[in-house]
Amino acid sequence: MYKTLKEVTETASRLNMTVGAFNMHNLEMLPDMIRGAKEVGAPIIIQTSIDTAKYIGYEVIVAVVKSLAETHMVDVALHLDHARDVDAIKEAIAAGYSSIMFDGSRLPFKENIEKTKLVVEYAHARGVSVEGELGTIGGTEEGISVAEDDKVYTRPEDAVLFVEETGVDALAVAIGTNHGQFKSKTEVNVPLLKEIHKVVDVPLVIHGGTGVKEEDYPELINNGIRKFNVGTELLVNWTQEAKQTFGETAVNKSLRYNVIPANQKVKEIVKHKMNLFLNRHQPITMG
Ligand code: 13P
Repeated sequence: MYKTLKEVTETASRLNMTVGAFNMHNLEMLPDMIRGAKEVGAPIIIQTSIDTAKYIGYEVIVAVVKSLAETHMVDVALHLDHARDVDAIKEAIAAGYSSIMFDGSRLPFKENIEKTKLVVEYAHARGVSVEGELGTIGGTEEGISVAEDDKVYTRPEDAVLFVEETGVDALAVAIGTNHGQFKSKTEVNVPLLKEIHKVVDVPLVIHGGTGVKEEDYPELINNGIRKFNVGTELLVNWTQEAKQTFGETAVNKSLRYNVIPANQKVKEIVKHKMNLFLNRHQPITMG
């Protein structure tokens, strides 16, 4: 079924798991992402950048995601990732996206609160969920690189005020992750996440999931991460697989021979991550 971010993260909180939020980079890979979720038996968030949405078309993406969610009977939320442009947010909502992220993290704190609040009012009036961001996530965000020294970690006291004032449905936290990190892994600041989780009760979001060690997943999930973004790992693997098949296949062979293996690779990764996101080996609490 077609769901909002709020609905799927509520399920995740109840089950102490996290929902995989996977960036789709083209339409080809989308059916296998949703089939992967079906096979794992968990909800999924499909997210697009503004540029991907423009390339494919907002309405086309909404129609295909809704159709796949219904055909496969999977809970799917469709989310606009890292939108700083309010017109793009309005376009996504008008087309039928069920969730959007307003990324005001580069704005001064007060302005981030004010603008996020306006976006929340607009989106909630139309039944759409909103993710906000506080602090800066490292790596590259939409082509703008964030230097290590310019990284600002989320401060728990700011998070409390931000959530109270804006009414966001989920909060992206800056705790040491980096977008686009696929050659190495990062050291996540778990103590900081714990502090934020203690004082803020909205679902928390990990960005730059490709660079997070899988052994860190349980601790992140047990401390409130309810949306876990993975993009680059899918992109890199799809491209590597497609490069190989395109290199080996005759030019007059159906394109299926080139893209099916790449889509399959994406599906395998989605399933692998989603199985870990179920957090089945939770610590047994005594008493
Ligand atoms: P990666 O591409 O590093 O996995 O990050 C995805 C993300 O956080 C999208 O906002």
